[in-house]
This record gives sequence, C-alpha cells and structure tokens, in this order.
Amino acid sequence: MITKNIQLAIEALQNNQLIALPTETVYGLAANAYEESAIKKIFELKKRPLYNPLIVHLHSQNQLEQVAKDIPEKALMLAEKFWPGSLTLVLKKKSHIPDLVTAGKDTVAVRVPQHLMALALLELLDFPLVAPSANPFGSISPTSAAHVYGYFKEELPVILDGGDCSNGVESTIVGFNGDTPILYRHGAVSVEEIEDCIGPIELITHNDTSPDAPGMLSRHYAPKTETHLVENIKETLGQFSGKRVGVLSFTELFNPQDVVAQEILSPKGDLKEAARNLYAALHRLDAQNLEIIIAEKFPNKGLGITLNDRLQRAVKKNINEKMVFTK
Ligand code: TXA
Ligand code: MG
Repeated sequence: MITKNIQLAIEALQNNQLIALPTETVYGLAANAYEESAIKKIFELKKRPLYNPLIVHLHSQNQLEQVAKDIPEKALMLAEKFWPGSLTLVLKKKSHIPDLVTAGKDTVAVRVPQHLMALALLELLDFPLVAPSANPFGSISPTSAAHVYGYFKEELPVILDGGDCSNGVESTIVGFNGDTPILYRHGAVSVEEIEDCIGPIELITHNDTSPDAPGMLSRHYAPKTETHLVENIKETLGQFSGKRVGVLSFTELFNPQDVVAQEILSPKGDLKEAARNLYAALHRLDAQNLEIIIAEKFPNKGLGITLNDRLQRAVKKNINEKMVFTK
C-alpha cells in the first residue's frame, strides 16, 4: 500500500515487516537493523546475494557511537560536513551489529539521510533501519513510491510516499584503510566535494567476485532494454535505423521522426538536475517496449562521473548469473 502515514510504517517495522522508505537519494527497502528475521526478508524480496552488505540509517550523527568504533578523524569531518545527506561511511563495527547486515565483515556502512519523512520515522523508532535500494537486485533504483510499487506491488505492506527523490542517485560511499580514505562508490556527493573536505581520496580497485562494495559490481542499475552508452547520439542513430530506438540525452532535443522516445535530463545542462531525473527517465524508457536505448556520456566531472558510472553499469553484459541467492 502507498501511504503517507508514518504510524503504519512504525507498526509494520515493529512487527518485523519491511517498508519502503523515501530518502533524498533513492527509495530504500527498510527493516529493523537489529532484527535478523526482518533483515532476511530484505534479501529474499530483493533476491540479493548475502555477500552484499546493507547500509544502516541513523537519525543523527549522535547515534554513530552506537554502531561504529575507532572512527577516523576524517570520517568525523565528513559526517560533520555532509550529514544529514547523501554520504555513507564504512567504519569498524560494534559487535552487536548482526552479521547479516555486514555480510560478516568487521565494518558497517552508515548514513543519516536528508529527508524529512525518513528522519521523522527514524526518530520515532528505538532502532536504526537497514535499507538497500528498493529494487530487485541489479535493476534500476526507484526514485518514487510508484517505482517501488511497480516492483513489489502488495508484497510490501507499507510504501511510505515521500515524493520524488531530490538527489536521485545513491549515496557516495567512503571507507578507510587505517586512516586513509577510499572511495567505494561514486554517488550524489561528488568526489570534488569530498576532496574539498578531507583532501585526496583513493579509488577502490574493482573486483567482481568478492566485491567490497557491490555498488561496484559491473552490471547493476540496469534496464531490461538493450542499452548503449555513446559519446554522440546523433552520430550513432544511423546504425539503428528501422529499430525502435529511445534516447537519453543530457541537453539535446532530437527530431521525433528519428526516435520513438526521448528523455532530456537537463535542457539547461545542470548535472544535479540530470542526476535527479536519471532513474525516472530510464524507468520510462524501459516501459516503452523499445529495442534499443542510446544514452549519451556526461562530461566527466562532478556528478557527471557518477552519472557515467551508473550508465556504464547499465550497459555491461557480463553479469555473473551464477551468484548465490537466498531462498
Ligand atoms: O543512497 C543510498 O545509499 C541508498 C538509500 C536507500 O540510502 N541505499 C543504497 O543501498 O544504495 P544499496 O544496498 O543498494 O547499496 C549499498 C552499498 C552496496 O554497494 C554495499 O556493498 C555497500 O553499500 N556496503 C554496505 N556495507 C558495506 C561494508 N561494510 N563495506 C563495504 N561496502 C559496504
Ligand atoms: Mg542498490
């Protein structure tokens, strides 16, 4: 059920059920972070492999000490600067955090979301929430309550409707090797913003079989329709003449005779606006029975890096089909 009634969400969570949680990045599929039977339902409903750990959502930085220890100075600087907001920190975990949350690692991912409804809910609960994006594993993340409903229908008792997500792409994930910060996932906070706060940050090296952050899996966030990522849509269109082609462009409008569908992410060329619109546009294109989606690369700076990262994962074909799923 889609609702704005926070009380219904509280009751569902207290009964160890799942809810959809609006955040400023994407909608989450939330459960009590301390209740293994509820957390298991997340992995089952999403068909998410158990090796893929979850993010713990807190209502304020003051709660950090309840879940994490040995917190590096630079992590505190980032929390100060970006929370509430679209930054996730991977820190040494306290021992009472269930292994199911952390995939057995000794670290836990945490963030304080910047969404009034999410914060109000978290404040009313006496436990934090774990929440991966509310989509089946590997598919496009949801940025509206309707997207979540499209995926899970009535299997999800409560879908809290907090409107369209204002940032529209997942949080940026930063972990630490000792005191050295490492970027695990590009996201709604740009690398430049992170580096302005704490200085240079290393990129994690990509590893598909035992991903440190499966946001790093090569295929993820993917539409069902065959998708191509190109430098220049106009030059590519000719290759697909006669096909049902949809285009995803940053600023450019195409002749409707050349394409069946088109999405312009930000006519004025604003990367933040493009990020906000990306997943909703992919959802719409994917629903139109197209043969091909052609997406255009973004300028490789700021949020353009995050947008290119998501589109690259949307086009890759080497998904590991043999991953172990929970029953
Ligand atoms: O914006 C977001 O972060 C959204 C909203 C709902 O908060 N959540 C989200 O969750 O994107 P999910 O599960 O789709 O992505 C979480 C990422 C995964 O790539 C996971 O591997 C990584 O966080 N992660 C979680 N715990 C980790 C840990 N201990 N070490 C490394 N990576 C971790
Ligand atoms: Mg996800």
